Amino acid sequence: MRYLVTGGAGFIGSNFIHFLFQKYGDDAHVVNLDKLTYAGIRENVAEFEGKKHYRFLHGDITNPADVAEAYAGGVDVVVNFAAETHVDRSLMEAGTFIDTDIRGVLVLLEEARKHAPHLKRFVQISTDEVYGSIDHGSFSERDPLSPRNPYSASKAGGDRMAYAYAQTYGLPVIITRASNNYGPFQYPEKLIPLFVTNAIDDVPLPLYGDGKNVRDWLFVEDHCAAVDFLIERGENSEVYNIGGGNERENREITRGILQILGKPESLIKPVADRQGHDRRYSLDTQKLERLGFRCSTGFEEGLRRTVQWYVENAAWWREIKERNPEFKAYYERQYGARTPA
Ligand code: NAD
Ligand code: TYD
Repeated sequence: MRYLVTGGAGFIGSNFIHFLFQKYGDDAHVVNLDKLTYAGIRENVAEFEGKKHYRFLHGDITNPADVAEAYAGGVDVVVNFAAETHVDRSLMEAGTFIDTDIRGVLVLLEEARKHAPHLKRFVQISTDEVYGSIDHGSFSERDPLSPRNPYSASKAGGDRMAYAYAQTYGLPVIITRASNNYGPFQYPEKLIPLFVTNAIDDVPLPLYGDGKNVRDWLFVEDHCAAVDFLIERGENSEVYNIGGGNERENREITRGILQILGKPESLIKPVADRQGHDRRYSLDTQKLERLGFRCSTGFEEGLRRTVQWYVENAAWWREIKERNPEFKAYYERQYGARTPA
């Protein structure tokens, strides 16, 4: 199988490429198309650069020429991870989210049409955030979409565009909606890696609002295994929720991180809430389970492994947090003048 992985220098995409090489060894055929935005780090997949069937293509999914080049050698499976992904950044500037998360999907789908006779799967990586917030119960794949922030609204657009191309042109599309991922290589702007790396340095952990918002946490390796499983076993035109079954309040996550690192709870700094902050995400994952998939990493184990990875790979995140002016400017803008909760 020849894979086109987009966004393969980001968090989940790079983990997925690691997964493919673990599964297929040197026989893995992978084109990695990535724009290398602030969130794309080529070193995440540097170890594969010399492999015979691996190609890194520096390009943009919104650019038809880049996308045509990525498909050119022949592609059996497309997995579209490329996206603007951070809710807080989408509150500062939403235009790039519309470009990449909607228009980029359209460009990938248009090129897919040209390769339709050979293409076996087109996986659109969507998110649980497209359903919006739910106070009680869980969202199933049949629930209507009700995104509540610019990131999730853009992702909903890409999600439905992929579905539209499946219905209209018969493309072999699968749409996955995963819950919050955590694990190695996550950019240190998201809750878990930000708090782990701040705590290591005794820098305050800016917990939004009352800290009681709930997310369902999915270890990234389980997510990769689920996507791979669905490429083999999923049905075209179907949507699949992928959840970790680990719903936790943000304050519990925060305490857990501090406990593992042996740091005091006085590092927690309650700050003004995120605008339009979704209260709770929760997924009904029976559809995927009925096909026979189960996650294999418990949350406590996954969190310990993640913290350990950031402790052992301090050079990786220090390069971003201490030497990348873009990150520093973002951090200052996001947290510098934030009032206490
Ligand atoms: P990330 O921000 O870590 O990485 C995104 C990658 O996409 C980066 O390498 C970036 O350079 C690349 N990219 C951005 N715009 C591009 C463009 N126009 N052309 C080509 N490449 C581009 O993101 P992530 O957390 O790995 O998320 C991957 C996918 O999974 C996204 O589609 C996201 O919506 C989805 N998702 C993420 C989570 C999560 O918790 N992180 C949960 C559910 C779904
Ligand atoms: P995040 O990792 O940004 O993912 P998402 O918003 O896509 O779920 O945030 C996870 C939760 O953590 C969310 O409820 C917001 C909260 N949060 C904080 O309290 N402080 C922070 O500095 C960040 C980045 C997130």
